[in-house]
Amino acid sequence: MQADANYRVVVPAAGSGQRMASGVPKQYLEIGDKTVIEHTLDALLGCTRIQSIVVVVSADDDIWPGIAGRYSGRPLETVIGGEERCHSVLNALAHIAQTADANDWVLVHDAARPCLRPADVDALIDALDGDMTGGLLGVPVADTMKQVSADGRIEQTVSREGLWHALTPQMFRLGLLHAALEKVLSSGRLVTDEAAAMELAGYRPRMIQGHRDNIKITLPADLALAAFYLQARVRA
Ligand code: CTP
Ligand code: MG
Repeated sequence: MQADANYRVVVPAAGSGQRMASGVPKQYLEIGDKTVIEHTLDALLGCTRIQSIVVVVSADDDIWPGIAGRYSGRPLETVIGGEERCHSVLNALAHIAQTADANDWVLVHDAARPCLRPADVDALIDALDGDMTGGLLGVPVADTMKQVSADGRIEQTVSREGLWHALTPQMFRLGLLHAALEKVLSSGRLVTDEAAAMELAGYRPRMIQGHRDNIKITLPADLALAAFYLQARVRA
């Protein structure tokens, strides 16, 4: 392990949860006695190698300040997000770059993934120790994959071989990721994860196998599933 490596975390939480269509943004829905984002932050704070966390929230967010107070004394900062997830992440990277070394590692993890296992963060960090590019957690696709056309009919069956779901955290060197995201956004493109920005910049991020329970809460049914996964861990 690199004894002198720095690990910083960005937690994008500036989305409004359109697909969830709940009264409050999904990161503030409750699972048991905590909100989704608190489960997420507590999992990250359970990783001893992480130095600091930047939470990215929207400018009109009036819920986050009340939650942030519970983390006083912890290495947590808040940054205002942007239009899309990639803009929110870029704002956080620009903030971190003011004080951090370009060679520091940044782990970007969605606020909407509360079932993250601290052991998977350690596995990601260990696997990428010494890697020049970085990588992400993922899981191999399990179902048979179909390419479907606009009329709802199958065009072809796509081979599952080599197909993975991209999860988070996604871990890259601050300087490389910052430059890659800036370049892609200034060219007018959008990306839905950090790996895509790195790929477009010519890098080949490594895929590290995580666990399928690291779901992103997206639709209403996902909340019950996340609650089930978290409760199962408390019982274990
Ligand atoms: N996110 C963000 N800034 C945005 C949009 C999204 O920081 N402008 C965050 C979300 O808060 C979430 C993560 O990125 O933690 C993953 O995005 P997604 O699941 O798409 O969340 P939302 O954009 O909130 O949901 P939807 O796309 O259904 O509106
Ligand atoms: Mg979204």
